[in-house]
Amino acid sequence: MSRLIINGKKRLRGEAEVQGAKNSVLPILAASILCSDTSVIHNCPDLSDVRATINILRFLGCKAELSGGTLVCDSSGLNATHIPDSLMRELRSSIIFLGALLARTGSASLGFPGGCEIGPRPIDIHLKALEALGVSIKDEHGIFRCTAPEGLHGGRVSLSFPSVGATENVMICAALAEGITVITNAAREPEICDLADYLNSCGAVIGGAGEGTIVIEGVQKLHGAQHTVIPDRIAAATLMSCAASTGGSIMLKNVIPSHLGAVLSVFEECGSDVLIRGGCIMLDSPLRSCAPKIIRTMPYPGFPTDAQAPIMGMAARSRGTTLFVENIFENRYLHVSGLLRMGANIKVEGKVAVLQGVESLHGAEVNALDLRGAAALITAALGAEGKTTLGGVKYLDRGYDCFEAQLQSLGADIQRV
Ligand code: UD1
Repeated sequence: MSRLIINGKKRLRGEAEVQGAKNSVLPILAASILCSDTSVIHNCPDLSDVRATINILRFLGCKAELSGGTLVCDSSGLNATHIPDSLMRELRSSIIFLGALLARTGSASLGFPGGCEIGPRPIDIHLKALEALGVSIKDEHGIFRCTAPEGLHGGRVSLSFPSVGATENVMICAALAEGITVITNAAREPEICDLADYLNSCGAVIGGAGEGTIVIEGVQKLHGAQHTVIPDRIAAATLMSCAASTGGSIMLKNVIPSHLGAVLSVFEECGSDVLIRGGCIMLDSPLRSCAPKIIRTMPYPGFPTDAQAPIMGMAARSRGTTLFVENIFENRYLHVSGLLRMGANIKVEGKVAVLQGVESLHGAEVNALDLRGAAALITAALGAEGKTTLGGVKYLDRGYDCFEAQLQSLGADIQRV
């Protein structure tokens, strides 16, 4: 089992290229089975979640190869409609294969998805939405056997919450359904737009992605396409948190600054200078940041839940008090116990955490329990006195491509052992 050893207090400086977005590439790979030929996906990060998705594609009979940041997927040989539990449990977005398999074959059978345990993460919104497209679902002891007895048809889908995954499942399924589907209260995350862009370049007709109402005109057939995945706004937010935690000064390349509006204003509030030049962000941080007053996670364009943890890792050593309100997931403070071991002052009560910034943190032996929690602990460790040993690195590898190498190139003292 690997661990990260971090010796803190090295100011980060230099340039870093931001990886392709995990939350874009996973649904795009599931959607690639709608085209019965080859898609080429560029800017694909090498993550364990991407590898797990490749395993699902291969199990289904597709050819999928990732090399040098480009993933080539040929789904012409798709010959299965069920996904075993062992593959489903590897990641949350395995559930997106439900809409994709239904669209391609008219049936699908799979169990509950896995992923980080940051709350109960039900799939009721996905299932209800797919039923509106003519899908019949039988729950046989946790295996969902889904068919479209009279074919998939367009429908009106009103989501009770703008779920990212449910919006993606409906968009994918409706792309090959007969007629028009209208999704209201749709998620507006940039990754939804990226998925729509990919599907449209395969011949789908999807309008309104990025807005609350998405309209999908079903077509009979899709063809393969080339697509470049958008930059990962959460990896960018994490790198900025790491830099600010050390009073560093970095330039991020390959970013879309408009995707980071709510995050950039937090860094400015903390006293960092933020400069935007095209697809680059320059961040210059004071040795000890001010605490942001309130971090309230919300669906996009609000503050992203995925950035809550790294921002908390940065704020742990700030001047002042921050009130965190986690509105998206019920169990998303798993990093707090590790931060407390490093000397942070944080109290959690349900979805609220009150953080009182301390003057200095100290290294400790800590364990990550989820992906963004791992990012929070690294962020704090980089600004702490002495040595931190981080376990649970497998969580980090779900979402960050060569993260420690990237931090090393910025001057961090971090090693994987
Ligand atoms: C996606 C992202 C994840 C991000 C999250 C919110 C991917 C691979 N993951 O996850 O990184 O943190 O969006 O921005 O893109 N819910 C239900 N029933 C459902 C579906 C969701 O109650 O059927 C609830 C969830 O439990 C959660 C909230 O809705 O409390 C948001 O979930 P959702 O937007 O679906 O997140 P994911 O798509 O799982």
